[in-house]
Amino acid sequence: MSSVVRRLSLVLALAAPVAAFAAGSPQVKQEMIAAGCFACHAVSHKVVGPAYGWIAYHYHNNPATIARLGHKIISGGTGYWNAWTGGVPMVPHPQLTLAQAEQMASWVMAQKPIAPPKP
Ligand code: HEC
Repeated sequence: MSSVVRRLSLVLALAAPVAAFAAGSPQVKQEMIAAGCFACHAVSHKVVGPAYGWIAYHYHNNPATIARLGHKIISGGTGYWNAWTGGVPMVPHPQLTLAQAEQMASWVMAQKPIAPPKP
């Protein structure tokens, strides 16, 4: 094996586990599809809940936001988006662990930010 190939495979071996847990990973998206998130949300437009792009636009992506959104995904409820949703609550998702919910929150924050239209 040439040293270039050896170096390349080392880089790939180190990068793969990071990619698997990266925000916006396809694996997390699959979990969100399985959990029914896309029944009420889409990336770029409102369905029942706000577009994921609006959420990414509105919040600063930091650990406190991820933790708060993780808890909100599990417990559900209303809040900031009432003007757009008419106060329809998000259903609770008690089947999710906090780690799963926080990964989903990170996936949402990794979407392209979109300024919400005027409610
Ligand atoms: C029954 C419809 C419904 C389902 C299913 C649903 N949501 Fe929501 N979601 C909403 C509504 C409505 C809101 C707006 C709540 C508000 O005004 O705070 C919302 C808000 C959010 C927010 C922003 C919360 C905030 O405080 O700004 C995130 C993040 C989110 N949803 C993620 C998810 C994820 C991840 C799933 C799947 C596990 C999911 N949602 C499933 C309806 C839904």
